[in-house]
Amino acid sequence: MTIQNKLDTLHRLRAESEQGGGEERVKQQHEKGKLTARERLDLLLDPGSFVELDRFVTHRSTDFGLAEKKFLGDGVVTGYGRIDGRLVYVFSQDFTVFGGSLAEAHAEKICKVMDLAVQNGAPLVGISDSGGARIQEGVVSLGGYADIFLRNTQASGVVPQISAVLGPCAGGAVYSPAITDFVFMVRGISYMFVTGPNVVKTVTREEVTPEELGGADVHASVSGVAQFAHDSEMECLAEIRKLLSFVPSNNVDSPPVTPTDDPADRMDEELLTLVPDNPNKPYDMHEVIRRVVDGGGLLEVHRDFAANIIVGFARLGGHPVGVIANQPAVLAGVLDIKASGKGARFIRFCDAFNIPLLTFEDVPGFLPGVDQEHGGIIKQGAKLLYAYAEATVPKLTVITRKAYGGAYDVMSSRHIRGDFNVGWPTAEIAVMGPKGAAEILFKRDLAAAKDREKKLDELVNDYREKFANPYLAAARGFLDDVIDPRETRPRLISALQSLLTKRQVQPPKKHGNIPL
Ligand code: HXC
Repeated sequence: MTIQNKLDTLHRLRAESEQGGGEERVKQQHEKGKLTARERLDLLLDPGSFVELDRFVTHRSTDFGLAEKKFLGDGVVTGYGRIDGRLVYVFSQDFTVFGGSLAEAHAEKICKVMDLAVQNGAPLVGISDSGGARIQEGVVSLGGYADIFLRNTQASGVVPQISAVLGPCAGGAVYSPAITDFVFMVRGISYMFVTGPNVVKTVTREEVTPEELGGADVHASVSGVAQFAHDSEMECLAEIRKLLSFVPSNNVDSPPVTPTDDPADRMDEELLTLVPDNPNKPYDMHEVIRRVVDGGGLLEVHRDFAANIIVGFARLGGHPVGVIANQPAVLAGVLDIKASGKGARFIRFCDAFNIPLLTFEDVPGFLPGVDQEHGGIIKQGAKLLYAYAEATVPKLTVITRKAYGGAYDVMSSRHIRGDFNVGWPTAEIAVMGPKGAAEILFKRDLAAAKDREKKLDELVNDYREKFANPYLAAARGFLDDVIDPRETRPRLISALQSLLTKRQVQPPKKHGNIPL
């Protein structure tokens, strides 16, 4: 055979490996409104940067007639490429081959890129579109999943892991995305559930559609399993690129700095009037964030879940920060079970990947109620406290209005190693709200008063004047300063710059025991 013949064979095999399950199945994939595994990688990665690995891998099964049914690549496209010039490892399951089902060889390919991602300190993006464990390979497929779960766990906190679920993802298969740092879904094509609608019907008699049980909106707004829900794959993959622009490639790198036109000394007049005079009136904390960070840009994470707390990525003077902010416009910004878990997970991601935390605080406390207590608000709130206390990245906090009770301590206070804690003149730092405090402290006076309501108003005003301000905390050094709201951005940028060299060492331990 001449070299030309050999090259022809190579080109033929390469072309064959790129056909997936063949034309008809690709057509079916498109008819379902879905892109193919390779089209997805083309959208995700910088043009021309994808380098495929293991395109010639096939399964080694013989049962159920599989010996005659082999596809080059075995239903998953794996390799590496670039996003904004930075290395990432990828896998993309190909539904056109055995329904993207996972079996021995398919799992080995995924494990190989996971190992390379950790070894070379680069993020891993996994695209799932699969009927689950390949039924013909039985327990071998289950073993393949476990091999992936182990690697997800080992890689956690070492390299960022992102999952795009762009098709079915059922049974135990859901646990790989669930361990990763961020789950992206697309409305109408993505489904995640431990058991599908048929099993649900048999077991609980509930009738539910796949979309209602485990579609993108359900997971992004009800269960919190997905951090992002999008209308199209194109939008979803573009957002993954954007998210990666905020995070370092691994846990020993610093986050990438992006030059900005937004001046570091920019003051903002509007910040003076954002907090209403009436302390019970809501305002939108997004507006505060927008006016402070570079170019007003915030990539919100978990936007539709527990909207009483806002979390997301932004930049200050070009440096990425993780923003955590109480949202007075939703449930008065109270901390409840969902908000606590949402905040805690985000904080831990940022801390693991050297992303400073910027907290905007206006919180009336933890949500009272039987549901909350029985649902474990104690344990869930402790998660948030633990995450903040454990974090060693630079921690900046601005109290815009209320910082009441335990929530004052929890929200990155000085006492749990906040590095730069300031309040606006509108800040109210107290054990509880003025009304609750007056009712307890002056119970007898109120009972004796002729006009209880009038007396209560007086006492509330007295209390507010005396205690509900930032100066008592500033007098103790619990706040580093009380600042003019207009100068929030310059003050934060200067503080962040002073903290970029921060080093804080934890006592040696295997790992802590966060209240899960
Ligand atoms: C082998 C599979 C497969 C699987 C799909 N296919 N899932 N082959 N193992 N798990 C094949 C189909 O036989 C079909 O091949 C092709 O993929 C396309 O599937 P369709 O059913 O035609 O597609 P669609 O109508 O879109 O339905 C998609 C689906 C359905 C909802 C995912 O295929 C389905 O329910 N699959 C089984 C899901 C399942 O129960 N998996 C095991 C879950 S348990 P042909 O050649 O006929 O066209 C699990 C445990 C993981 O995964 C445990 C980890 C610890």
